[in-house]
Amino acid sequence: MEKEKKNGVLHVVMFPWLAMGHLIPFFHLSKLIAQKGHSVSFISTPRNILRLPKIPPHLSSLINLVSLPLPRLDNLPNDAESSTDVPYNKQQLLKRAFDMLELPLTDFLGSSESKPDWVIYDYASHWLPPVAARFDISRAFFSSFSAACLAYIGPPAPLINGQDFRTNAEDFTLVPEWVPFESDMAYRLHEIAKYLQRSSENESVTPDMVRFGFAINESEVVFIRSSDEFEPEWFNLLRELYGKGKPVVPIGFLPPQINEQVDEFDTNWVGINEWLDKQRVNSVIYIAVGTEATLSQEELTELALGLELSGAPFFWVLRNPPESTQSVFEMLPHGFVERVEGRGVVHLGWAPQVRILSHDSVGGFLTHCGWNSMIEGLGFGRVLILFPMVNDQGLNARLGNNKGLGVEIPRIAQDGSFTRDSVAKLVRLAMVEDSGESLRIRAKEMKGLFGDRNRNNQIADEFICFLEDNSPPRLTI
Ligand SMILES: *[C@@H]1O[C@H](CO)[C@@H](O)[C@H](O)[C@H]1NC(C)=O
Ligand SMILES: *[C@@H]1O[C@H](CO)[C@@H](O)[C@H](O)[C@H]1NC(C)=O
Repeated sequence: MEKEKKNGVLHVVMFPWLAMGHLIPFFHLSKLIAQKGHSVSFISTPRNILRLPKIPPHLSSLINLVSLPLPRLDNLPNDAESSTDVPYNKQQLLKRAFDMLELPLTDFLGSSESKPDWVIYDYASHWLPPVAARFDISRAFFSSFSAACLAYIGPPAPLINGQDFRTNAEDFTLVPEWVPFESDMAYRLHEIAKYLQRSSENESVTPDMVRFGFAINESEVVFIRSSDEFEPEWFNLLRELYGKGKPVVPIGFLPPQINEQVDEFDTNWVGINEWLDKQRVNSVIYIAVGTEATLSQEELTELALGLELSGAPFFWVLRNPPESTQSVFEMLPHGFVERVEGRGVVHLGWAPQVRILSHDSVGGFLTHCGWNSMIEGLGFGRVLILFPMVNDQGLNARLGNNKGLGVEIPRIAQDGSFTRDSVAKLVRLAMVEDSGESLRIRAKEMKGLFGDRNRNNQIADEFICFLEDNSPPRLTI
């Protein structure tokens, strides 16, 4: 079919799930699209729009930030607009509110002055592809998850029609039979238990696996934040699972980027930078466990005492649990902050993670294994200590471990418990001990894959070509 585009400029609508680990990659992807001269409507709710980094001035005319107020629900706090604002078990409620954005979003797609060519959506908005199809807009599912993770989730049809083999927690600990090679790509019992408990608390909200099923099946293409070079076996498997009609296209890692100018997004950077400047090169372990799950009292205690035992300098980002009256500082072991003074920093609230990871004094990253965080750590060649909590994180930890990118803190499968000694041992291994040298070398190598702009731009160029070549035909004006 002959295709003609209005001046060759595309209008792309971006619609991420309401979580930082999704908003940020969708935002980076928007910049990439705008850099090629296409226009982007980035749609989210008001508070999430405010949380985004600044748009670089040369792109600001091409990226339109669109705020849709989040419908209010009983039991959902008034200012709750992202997964970081609610306890983990209230996230289904947040999804219910998110689903109610269908109407305003439909209005936007139908009334937009310049008709969108593409909608790039997230797994959570399973209702969006049919709406876009009605308006003759092309549909892409953008996975901020790895190819390995999608391969574990599997082909879409069984997820939609209720035929998926996973019905109880144990099922999720099995490597799916469609994985044709040796692998341990599956959840541990404690990782999936939280997820299943959350789902059972409100059965009337569409389960995530069903959302994935529709998001994949109703798309014309699946874009993945990864590369064939990094996980060829999983990309190959995905292409088999989805079949010939569904292109699976890597977009690269969207490597972390640092603006020259420190802006309000970098709150506290000046002070943090001063402290890091005083530390030795590669000596500091950075600890951040993400914005979704909160540490239990026991987890917090063992982590703290493990860091203390390790003797390593550390920078630990903690946040107060949402809807809790207790400060996380009160939960730390008695006298901990005083004992580690000078050597360790406990930082409350938001921290400029990319800047911290980019500092030469940082050598390791103890991470919850959100895909975005792992990419940011590897993009700077930091050794990872893998400490998955919820969602896809367990699968990312398996992937990281298999690829030799880090070491995982051993936990008891049933309850997820772990010891301070294992934390101290792994921190020393990753940071100082001779036996950890191969890990450090491997992490440095990964910087080339995850952090190299040119390499990733080449992958991104192919993604842009795909958008340009496959947009719906238009009448020329
Ligand atoms: C998947 O999508 C195809 C094409 O749109 C459709 O024919 C099929 O019914 C869908 N499968 C399910 C299980 O919904
Ligand atoms: C589940 O959803 C229903 C309908 O919105 C709501 O009334 C109920 O309070 C929710 N239950 C929980 C436990 O959140």
